[in-house]
Amino acid sequence: MNSWVVATYDSAFGYVSAHGAPLVDLLDPQPGEKIIDLGCGTGALSAEIAARGAEPLGIDGSPALIGQARMLNAGLSFTVGDAGDFTVTEPFDAVASNAALHWMTRDPDAVITRVHAALRPGGRFVAEMGGAGNCAELIAAMQTAWREFGLAEPELPWYFPSPAEYATRLEDGGFTVRLLEYVERPTRMTEGPNGAADWVRVFASGPLNAVPPQAVESLLARINDLAAPALRRESGWMADYVRLRFAAVRKPDSSALTFDMRRPESAHT
Ligand SMILES: C[S@@+](CC[C@H](N)C(=O)[O-])C[C@H]1O[C@@H](n2cnc3c(N)ncnc32)[C@H](O)[C@@H]1O
Repeated sequence: MNSWVVATYDSAFGYVSAHGAPLVDLLDPQPGEKIIDLGCGTGALSAEIAARGAEPLGIDGSPALIGQARMLNAGLSFTVGDAGDFTVTEPFDAVASNAALHWMTRDPDAVITRVHAALRPGGRFVAEMGGAGNCAELIAAMQTAWREFGLAEPELPWYFPSPAEYATRLEDGGFTVRLLEYVERPTRMTEGPNGAADWVRVFASGPLNAVPPQAVESLLARINDLAAPALRRESGWMADYVRLRFAAVRKPDSSALTFDMRRPESAHT
């Protein structure tokens, strides 16, 4: 098990062991808190946040998923928005995100900047995402099969940062990192009995759509052959997940100080 813990996490209810704890426990929503669920999908995390008495706002770039989230979670708030480009009208106590930040490949720093702007000083940013090496066997099988079929290198739609890289981005973006975990988490592919092929169909539909239709089935069969030695067990297929989870806090606002230094006369007016 590869685990790198920068610090322990001190929740409002005392020490919480970060490793293996559900994300909502790291977030530790308090009754009445306003919390954004960024890349909310169909709203599973929003529902957990609401169950703790906090007020979630789910934001997702997909109108279809926001539609489903509204249907599945009557009474909760959801809106369509791009994580790299959203604004809110009042400061939030926390931003949470599950399995979504690694899909936001265009500009990871813009996402951190928008999260920072949405939070009050001291507000929390708590998330889990794919980390460096996530699905490495699956991706290697994909790349090999693409090459064997004479196809151009597939354009991968994910951003899987190392812990050091993402911590630096958070610090540069105005956050203090309180906890950062980097763990291997082999995960049973319960929803994909056809193993690596199903995984590619669901999660790499972009690159797959660029493959000539007549080659798709044999390409997927080859990916299964290539991935099986590493990922197929007697009990079924396992995905080689590597996760990054973190809890960071927006640093206190220094704008008042900056203002005073720039306009010393303001003290006399
Ligand atoms: C794997 S799903 C995770 C959904 C949900 N958080 C969950 O745990 O079930 C990733 C989500 O991120 C959303 N997403 C990807 N890029 C986004 C962006 N730039 N802005 C907002 N949402 C985005 C997708 O639409 C999708 O719903």
